[in-house]
Amino acid sequence: MTNDPYPSRGNKDASIGKNPGQPIGNSAEMQKTPHVDTAGKPGEPFLIGDTMSGGYGKGPDILHDCTIAVNEGEIAVIVGPNGAGKSTAMKAVFGMLDVRQGAVRLNGRDITKLTPQARVAEGMAFVPQTSNIFTSMTVEENLEMGAFLRRDDIQKTIEQVYELFPILREKRNQAAGELSGGQRQQVAVGRALMTQPKVLMLDEPTAGVSPIVMDELFDRIIEVARTGISILMVEQNARQALAIADKGYVLVQGRNRFTDTGAALLADPEVRKSFLGG
Ligand SMILES: Nc1ncnc2c1ncn2[C@@H]1O[C@H](COP(=O)(O)OP(=O)(O)OP(=O)(O)O)[C@@H](O)[C@H]1O
Ligand SMILES: [Mg+2]
Repeated sequence: MTNDPYPSRGNKDASIGKNPGQPIGNSAEMQKTPHVDTAGKPGEPFLIGDTMSGGYGKGPDILHDCTIAVNEGEIAVIVGPNGAGKSTAMKAVFGMLDVRQGAVRLNGRDITKLTPQARVAEGMAFVPQTSNIFTSMTVEENLEMGAFLRRDDIQKTIEQVYELFPILREKRNQAAGELSGGQRQQVAVGRALMTQPKVLMLDEPTAGVSPIVMDELFDRIIEVARTGISILMVEQNARQALAIADKGYVLVQGRNRFTDTGAALLADPEVRKSFLGG
């Protein structure tokens, strides 16, 4: 670990969030909602895709007994080789895939049969790996689109997104397609935050951005988690992502290969050798 440029930074580092404790989502309200059914096991994570098997259409299973989960206000990171099924696992959790076996539970409630839109209404937000913004619309219009399910005043949330990503305020009237890669990803994350989610799911939020922009984005993601929002994220930059992860999942061929805290995975010689480049 002597050469590690990210010495166990972690989500528990209170120095990171600019405004720790400032709510972006409505997870405080969530606390008041009593558990309505008993499908979940006591003490299980806030969101869990539990032993999921399934694939696309009538095709073969891509996921095999795959479990991914995240606790409230924590960051869980999924890593693994190309084609391992990371995006597929995210789609399964968000209801975009036929889960043939296993279940998805949110706050103890079985949501396996809910449509993606119904999951948004339940507090889930998903930023897919590709096509995650409306390029011909302005930055602000993208944020407004994100709030499509809301019937209340969204100005305060737009303001919170601009506080989190100041560059978006500057570019608010510019077409999102004219922004840099890192700025577009901020639009995508900002759009997802517009529904005031309890869980934010991000598929490779730092794809194609420079290391400095990646660090910036991770800092903002940590900030979001510190407001109580759970983050479930797929990342190609495995080493850096595990450094900020409370929990890490290494997927290989649709199966869980290693699951542990981010720090423990970073320290595991086998994980390092096979998945982190030594
Ligand atoms: N829409 C689809 N229809 C059929 N098969 C698909 C579809 N999307 C992905 N697959 C298959 O599912 C498997 C897992 O793909 P997936 O995109 O989940 O991998 P990944 O781990 O996200 O990879 P990457 O790191 O390249 O993003 C691959 O074999 C892929 O060909
Ligand atoms: Mg993928």
